[in-house]
Amino acid sequence: MIVEGGRRLKGEAEIGGSKNAVLPIMVAALLAKGASVVRGTPRLRDVTTMIKVLETLGVKASQDGSDLHIDPKGLKKYEAPYDLVKTMRASIYVMGPLLARLGKARVSMPGGCAIGQRPVDLHLKGFEALGAKIALKHGYIEATAKKLKGARIIFDKPSVGATANVMMAACLAQGTTTLHNPAQEPEIVDLAGFLKRMGARIHGEGSDCIEIIGVSSLQGCDYEVIPDRIEAATLLVAAAITGGSVSLRHGRLADLGIVAEKLREHGLDLVETGRGLKASMGKRRRPVHITTMPHPGFPTDMQAQWMALMALTPGTTVVTETIWENRFMHVSELDRMGADIKIQGNSAVVSGVKKLFGAPVMASDLRASAALVVAALAAKGSTEITRIYHLDRGYERLEDKLSALGARIRRVPE
Ligand code: EPZ
Repeated sequence: MIVEGGRRLKGEAEIGGSKNAVLPIMVAALLAKGASVVRGTPRLRDVTTMIKVLETLGVKASQDGSDLHIDPKGLKKYEAPYDLVKTMRASIYVMGPLLARLGKARVSMPGGCAIGQRPVDLHLKGFEALGAKIALKHGYIEATAKKLKGARIIFDKPSVGATANVMMAACLAQGTTTLHNPAQEPEIVDLAGFLKRMGARIHGEGSDCIEIIGVSSLQGCDYEVIPDRIEAATLLVAAAITGGSVSLRHGRLADLGIVAEKLREHGLDLVETGRGLKASMGKRRRPVHITTMPHPGFPTDMQAQWMALMALTPGTTVVTETIWENRFMHVSELDRMGADIKIQGNSAVVSGVKKLFGAPVMASDLRASAALVVAALAAKGSTEITRIYHLDRGYERLEDKLSALGARIRRVPE
């Protein structure tokens, strides 16, 4: 990606459907006997990978524009192979629905990844509490259960993946399951919305206790996924760093939560209108510290982009990462562009500079790529970002949306 920096973003862009909501929803569709349609879905590499995962299970899945059609009638296989799980860890989501529908699941153990170790112990403890037997064999997790039974489950810490996985399994379990200390992210609330549309009985999603009353079967349904709050927040940071003013169709203030508050504290004027979000950057930029936390805390998926914004903000900002142990790979690349950021343990001390300068930089993961794009938009001169394919996992046509907002950005073959 080549970005010529220094242009204020101005105009309107559309926010697509949420990646982290649609991935578990695609898998939740397996819990029903009939077909489901999920609307407003983004065209992303992770969605295509999830379609492949579903196909290996015998399920028909296709994306037609922004509509996803999933027909689980042919569901008979119960294995998610290494080749797919290693490219997308969210493949682990198939465990819950497979256990509930077929009584067994075999999923390759996801290894570590660029942002750190990614254990799945909380998923497995949840399944065990529901009565499943778990064995680890030759790099695969094998789970079996004759009939899942409702249970009281207390998670050691809130985990988006474990909450989604166990919630899906519990929908068809016998009796009532309560999840204590679950993840409260909007994507979990959206998954619960989809499950309820299929006939599941769930209460308390989005709070610190979720109750799921098992039912004997679920039906396919028609559902629209929520807009992507991280895409919206990334575009708002891009507007802020370039001193621009933008409108984002379909953006929702409530889902942005603390990110909206931090943006306002920084100096962005942000309101919700009937069409979405409207934002314009004020004259003064203020440094705003953040610490990543499970929802409703500051999302780790916005930490890198926030750091890019603070790199050009006068004063000193402390950015602390508490979710992933290795999510500072963008720091050395931002420093190559003239930023002054020092890592101290799990914090980064960002001393704002007057200017960033275009440089060749390399993307290391999805959100790090977004941070480099954001920094490049405000840098003097041209930035060349390599390994930009990471971006396509989670941002749909980001360069087109930014171009529509007046950025000079283009993709060239590497
Ligand atoms: C989801 O990952 C997101 N992915 C991630 O987004 C996001 O960074 C993360 O939640 C946190 O918000 C999807 O939704 C597909 P977790 P997930 O389980 O579910 C620990 C992006 O950029 N943990 O909530 O894998 C774990 O190590 C991606 O879009 C355990 O200890 O995250 C971490 O410290 C990257 N044991 C914390 O919990 C477990 O069994 C939160 O992880 C599971 C997790």
